[in-house]
Amino acid sequence: MSPKHQTCVVAAAIVDRLDRPARLLAARRTAPPALAGQWELPGGKTEPGEAPADALLRELREELGVRVRLGAQITGPLDGHWPLASALTLRLWWAEIVDGEPMPLQDHDQIRWLEAGRWLDVAWIPADRTAVSEMVRRAGGP
Ligand code: CDP
Repeated sequence: MSPKHQTCVVAAAIVDRLDRPARLLAARRTAPPALAGQWELPGGKTEPGEAPADALLRELREELGVRVRLGAQITGPLDGHWPLASALTLRLWWAEIVDGEPMPLQDHDQIRWLEAGRWLDVAWIPADRTAVSEMVRRAGGP
């Protein structure tokens, strides 16, 4: 199986605008029990044969009812990916909504826009906290 067809987890840092991000969207998970109540950058697993960017567009449509434009990838320390607790890794992209109003349609019970300077204010799941901390650091701090 080629790397592009391996399962990976993809997620988006949805911001109000890609060219000058101020607000970041966080979504609160309802499952599994170990993660319920914690906040994440929305996304999910790729399906067999699905390209990561296509999987992300699909997940955001299904989970939040929005169409987004993807920006640059937010590179992590594992060959560009971010470590997860499981054997999987996470790939992250900046994104901007081009159609729809985000709603918690499945997998989440709440969404929240975090203002500039408050991107670390929610109980992120650990992998996401690492990534968001690094995003804040790279931008020069909140
Ligand atoms: O819904 P689907 O099965 O496609 O995937 P998911 O349950 O949303 O994500 C799979 C795993 O990736 C979760 O168990 C989370 O631990 C992890 N994940 C994460 O750490 N951060 C995210 N932003 C999304 C998923």
